[in-house]
Amino acid sequence: MSSSTTVAVVLAGGVGTRVGLGIPKQLIRIAGKAIVDHTLEALSGSEHIDEILVMMNADSIHELDYLGSDPRFPKLRAVLPGGDTRNDTTKLALDALPDDPDIKVLFHDAVRPFIDERIIEDCVAALDEFDAVDTAIPSADTIIEVEDGRITDIPVRSRLRRGQTPQGFRLGTIRRAYELAAGDPAFAATDDCGVVFTYLPEVAIRVVDGSPENMKITEPLDLHIADKLFQLQSAQITHDTVADDLDLTGKGIVVFGGSYGIGASVADLARSAGARVYAFSRSTTKTDVTKRKSIRRALAQAAKSGPIDYVVVTAGVLSISPLADTSKRTLSDTIAINLLGPAKVAQEALPHLEATNGQLLFFTSSSYTRGRAGYSMYSAAKAGVVNMTQALADEWTERVRVNCINPQRTNTPMRTNAFGEEPSGTLLDPAVVAAVSLRVLTSDITGQVVDVRVSG
Ligand code: CTP
Repeated sequence: MSSSTTVAVVLAGGVGTRVGLGIPKQLIRIAGKAIVDHTLEALSGSEHIDEILVMMNADSIHELDYLGSDPRFPKLRAVLPGGDTRNDTTKLALDALPDDPDIKVLFHDAVRPFIDERIIEDCVAALDEFDAVDTAIPSADTIIEVEDGRITDIPVRSRLRRGQTPQGFRLGTIRRAYELAAGDPAFAATDDCGVVFTYLPEVAIRVVDGSPENMKITEPLDLHIADKLFQLQSAQITHDTVADDLDLTGKGIVVFGGSYGIGASVADLARSAGARVYAFSRSTTKTDVTKRKSIRRALAQAAKSGPIDYVVVTAGVLSISPLADTSKRTLSDTIAINLLGPAKVAQEALPHLEATNGQLLFFTSSSYTRGRAGYSMYSAAKAGVVNMTQALADEWTERVRVNCINPQRTNTPMRTNAFGEEPSGTLLDPAVVAAVSLRVLTSDITGQVVDVRVSG
């Protein structure tokens, strides 16, 4: 390690009592990965960070054993046990770092997975001029000081900031601050800049802008917000639907439901991008997603000419009638084709996709968030598909990615049969949905529901 090295220390020593899920919150899975994995990916991907040290809750440190041999994190140097308090964890990290006082070190909360490259760059750059740097955002709320249930002060809001991480230092500075703190019996702090501020008041601490997304996952509500933020990140794919530069040469893709509508468009586009495409459907190949043998046969046939990288399930049925008037047959078909079908394809496709580290792609409908009168069972089945996407992404972490496309009303025969002719400007072109689908297939996201909207 040289003086020009920048080390990121990931503080993951906490428990997450406030989230209250009974496991350290940095291990909670969102969008198919542990929160700490998302954080590590962001730090590892930064060109401004050379090495990473993870300080993990001592009781759960074995849960991160897999990181040691994880090819995603070549910059990871060690995973070491954290301490009882956040400041104890920092101290242990300082003990593990080399002697060189000029090394730049960034301390970052493991539970802030939305750190971005701009923040990292600003922090590292600030350390060229300053010995300490904090990350903060303005406060939307008025902050009041309270004692015994009464307001004792209302500081001017425009001067207040909410502190985030990273907090960066020249190693010699943060070490000196902690040495001085060690001699103070009244030492109390909640972060690292606070230690420098108190014990080295002569050191100027530069403040760089954080971001609202760089939130700390703290309360149960934050898990919902984080989930949505990951979803929004993946939705950015939909802003870039032009598939001209897409190269699928050498890739094998199987489409169930590939004879018309979105499935046919996915197959066409994948073919023109150079993929080996195998499109199966009831009408063309008599492939029935409700029949396991039929699925297995289709996959085996495709596998004869090469590995299968992607399996796409667009097969579905939609018939409109109030539940009270729906025949038993229609009811069971709706579930068998729209929900059990994808589940059976998932089971049969797993060995193929595992061999290629591939991806399974489902389709849902915008009715998954709120059931619609007239197609209750369809809505319910599509909600089930979303749920299954998230569950399988978890079950198959690091083995197979699983995502789901949520196209808004799309100009397909299935839709026209169910709803009749609709104004064309209100419907998505299946080719657009196909372009987004292929973008998702070639991205590394998992466990995501990607919306595709007419306005794009
Ligand atoms: N942290 C740490 N060592 C500790 C306590 C906290 O490294 N002994 C880390 C956490 O893992 C987290 C960050 O500091 O990444 C912010 O911690 P915070 O959310 O405030 O605390 P937790 O202990 O994780 O949660 P809670 O207070 O709800 O128990």
